[in-house]
Amino acid sequence: MHPWIADRTTTFDSSGIRKVFDLAAKLKDPVNLSIGQPDFDVPDPIKNAAIEAITSGKNAYSPTQGIEPLRQALRQQIEQTYPGQDRDVFISSGTSGGLMLAMMAMINPGDEVIFLDPYFVMYPALLQMCGGVPIRINSYPDFRLDAAKIEAAITPKTKMILVNSPANPTGVTATPAELEAVAKLAKKHNIALVSDEIYSQFFYDGDFASPATYNDQTIVIDGFSKSHAMTGWRVGYVHGPSEIMRTMLKIQQYSFVCSPQPAQWGAVRAMEVRLDEHIEHYRQKRDFIYESLCDLYEIAKPNGAFYVFPKVPSDGAQTMTATQFVEKAIERGLLIIPGNIFSRQDTHFRISFAASDEQLKRGVEILRSLALS
Ligand SMILES: Cc1ncc(COP(=O)(O)O)c(C=O)c1O
Repeated sequence: MHPWIADRTTTFDSSGIRKVFDLAAKLKDPVNLSIGQPDFDVPDPIKNAAIEAITSGKNAYSPTQGIEPLRQALRQQIEQTYPGQDRDVFISSGTSGGLMLAMMAMINPGDEVIFLDPYFVMYPALLQMCGGVPIRINSYPDFRLDAAKIEAAITPKTKMILVNSPANPTGVTATPAELEAVAKLAKKHNIALVSDEIYSQFFYDGDFASPATYNDQTIVIDGFSKSHAMTGWRVGYVHGPSEIMRTMLKIQQYSFVCSPQPAQWGAVRAMEVRLDEHIEHYRQKRDFIYESLCDLYEIAKPNGAFYVFPKVPSDGAQTMTATQFVEKAIERGLLIIPGNIFSRQDTHFRISFAASDEQLKRGVEILRSLALS
């Protein structure tokens, strides 16, 4: 290792996902079901609002906490959703930026952070950069948020519970009762509860629920990346108890500085853009992919986000690892992600159905033939 490299960078690596993308780079016209972003483009009114911001000179730093019109619009939404709660809100540099600040603001070296396995790739990396210790709760095979399992993992060192519903990589959503149980558990033990709600708009059966409804100290992190296809714009937001928000902002001031100002003006407009049609398309894609594969693959039916996380089928004698399975899929021109990127086990794989119907059809054909071969 190069002598200049800091120890904190060695606690995690990103070679697994790089390997998949290296293999994929060799493919001509692959069926790409690996991408974690919507297949629609940023709606025009949002683009126009950002262009207008640029041409009218709104190009400087914004206040650290974000532009007031965006905070005001979010405040209104938050007050409606959580009446009577005292929540402060600020704009972060994407949801990832909000997650990073949450860890930096709350995690001391040695603090334990509980989250479900499988998990979003960034969670262990971010918290280990702060010296935190990941406590992964095995949630196979149904990926439910089980408060009893979480309670059993609590120790005097537990500092935070991190929940993500709808979840990446499974698409599974927690029920209000499950969220309430975890919210109350965090309250009872005085543990920070962080809720990553980046997929809150992608909810297919029933309504979205947040643990913040049941625990007013919950730190909620959300953003515009997925909902409005603005992944490159870097606009997220965080709301929660004011002292925690102030501390996160202090770190933002000396790190990210602010979310890009023109993108924030785009986000103001985004708050008025209805997404019903896109969500309806994604519901149809979810139904198509689930119904086309569930006779051959064990799948927990996703109710949100745009992922499914099937198990690698067993051929009786020996089961392939997900990494081996994905290599076979890539040989046939299909790009998917092996489960060990998101998990300590390598038994499942992630399909993103944020793709055209044509790509999904081709992907299903390859997956069906792989299961039958
Ligand atoms: C669960 C989860 N949280 C956060 C993010 C990061 O979102 P952003 O682009 O807003 O940083 C992602 C992106 O894939 C995600 O899947």
